[in-house]
Amino acid sequence: MNKVIAIYPGSFDPPTNGHIDLIERGGKIFDRLTVAILRNSEKQPLFSVSERREMLESIVRSKRWKNVDVDTFDGLLVDYAVKKKAQAVLRGIRAISDYEYELQMALMNRKLEPRLETVFMMPALAYSYLSSRLVREIAQLGGAVTGLVPEPVEKQLLEKLNGKT
Ligand code: PNS
Repeated sequence: MNKVIAIYPGSFDPPTNGHIDLIERGGKIFDRLTVAILRNSEKQPLFSVSERREMLESIVRSKRWKNVDVDTFDGLLVDYAVKKKAQAVLRGIRAISDYEYELQMALMNRKLEPRLETVFMMPALAYSYLSSRLVREIAQLGGAVTGLVPEPVEKQLLEKLNGKT
């Protein structure tokens, strides 16, 4: 049988426990899952692409997820997915408010590449209010992000905001 390859695309600025939860769930149902960081986002990121890649790679390594890898991409997601011979795109839906944007993106991607399926998964309920944007804001304003991001990410956030990196 054909192996099912999926891409989990996003900004991951920074990776949160919600992202990690979704990677774990995706890794269980797909034969291979590539976490793909968008390189040329219009957003001004807090962490560089290579910092985000290193954080994600070290998390995947520490969890010993053998069928998960981390990559970066730019241009159209569908073009990248075809290049990687992926059949699916994985996206997380936390609340109904995510749905409209995700539906629009999934249908547009289907229009561009009908062979590619978008698969939505829900993270654990405990992460349903969690987003990278809120994590950045809380950390920038001196709040605690313990439990919201993996420990090494928390450490990196504190270092970044204290001007050490
Ligand atoms: O984590 P994000 O910022 O919600 O991820 C958005 C992402 C990276 C999935 C989306 O912006 C994307 O796929 N960008 C690549 C460019 C593209 O294909 N645009 C057309 C989308 S229909």
